[in-house]
Amino acid sequence: MVKKVSIIGASGYTGGELLRWALMHPEMQVSQITSERFAGQAAYKLNPNLRGFTQLQFTPVKQLSMDVDAVFICTPHKTAAPYVKQFMGTGAKIIDLSADFRLRSKETYAKYYAVHPHPELLEKAVYGIPELHREEIKNAQLVACAGCLATSVILPLAPLVKNGLISLESIIADSKIGSSAGGAGFDISTHHPERQGGVRSYKPSGHRHTAEIEQELSAIIGAPVSVGLTPHGIEMVRGILSTVHARLAGKTSDIDLWKAYRSFFAGSPFVRLVKDQNTLYRYPEPKPVVGTNFADIGWELDPEKGRIIVMSAIDNLVKGSGGQAIQCFNLMSGFDEKLGLWSPGFHPL
Ligand SMILES: NC(=O)c1ccc[n+]([C@@H]2O[C@H](COP(=O)([O-])OP(=O)(O)OC[C@H]3O[C@@H](n4cnc5c(N)ncnc54)[C@H](OP(=O)(O)O)[C@@H]3O)[C@@H](O)[C@H]2O)c1
Repeated sequence: MVKKVSIIGASGYTGGELLRWALMHPEMQVSQITSERFAGQAAYKLNPNLRGFTQLQFTPVKQLSMDVDAVFICTPHKTAAPYVKQFMGTGAKIIDLSADFRLRSKETYAKYYAVHPHPELLEKAVYGIPELHREEIKNAQLVACAGCLATSVILPLAPLVKNGLISLESIIADSKIGSSAGGAGFDISTHHPERQGGVRSYKPSGHRHTAEIEQELSAIIGAPVSVGLTPHGIEMVRGILSTVHARLAGKTSDIDLWKAYRSFFAGSPFVRLVKDQNTLYRYPEPKPVVGTNFADIGWELDPEKGRIIVMSAIDNLVKGSGGQAIQCFNLMSGFDEKLGLWSPGFHPL
């Protein structure tokens, strides 16, 4: 049955990407898209790729209707929580793409973000990575979609942590990320003359996504897992490549790793294992996943040094936000999780 949905914050990059997928989805009818700045304007004027696909216009949030089956919230952290509160009583499925309901603890939220506007709702949310929480997502009213960097770090580490294959103290994730992760708003640090040609480490320690990465990996084994995350902005619009370094807990072979990854991701159609010496694309890289909901994961053992290096590539606007949100919506609605999302990217790009 077709579901009536709305998108709050549809003029941003995640909202625009979500709208693209929603318009192509066979069981979704987009009834409202909101923006204050672009109220009254047609969506295709801001998203030229959608010209010919929709006549929808942005409406201001004060005209937001509560009469929907599902709402997607694509606004900055702290601004999303009041909308979640508004929709909780309506029975609509709520998929929040902000960080507001990703963390279980209001103290951790306060440490990384601000005082939480609605801490009483934190326990209602399910963390939105289907590969970890598929069954809980199916029964949730509120899903807090995982952060983009967090998705790219949690997925490659989860099978290693679950199977006790790595030491839990010395895990380092080094991520390269495209400029769209910063959103559509203007910031001098992402202004073209400042950014073009550059590679910039912008938060070498204490990045906000560290909190959700540690929360989710610790929950897998019920013991603390510590991860250092260092992202770099590079000259790319979409995409993330995370290279994760960890010490092996003991003697481990490639066969052990294939088994661990295959079994963890059995039944997870959007995770592809990429480790192939006989192709140009030996390990994951962002270009083949851009515009898709895939997370490509590959690894290399370094037995001499007792280390493993795991690479993971996603599109921050798809598996890192809009696509993952639709994947969660599909599960919450009783649909196949691939519905409306199953498509390859471009090659060459
Ligand atoms: N970019 C990514 O790669 C990415 C990935 C995962 C998650 N996220 C998260 O997704 C959310 C949106 O990110 P983005 O990159 O799409 O940001 P963005 O491009 O800056 O868009 C922000 C959107 O929020 C709207 N907005 C701002 N304040 C609002 C308020 N108080 N009430 C209603 N609408 C409001 C803006 O609409 P107006 O036109 O009215 O200004 C705009 O549509 C953030 O929480 C971000 O952390 C982003």
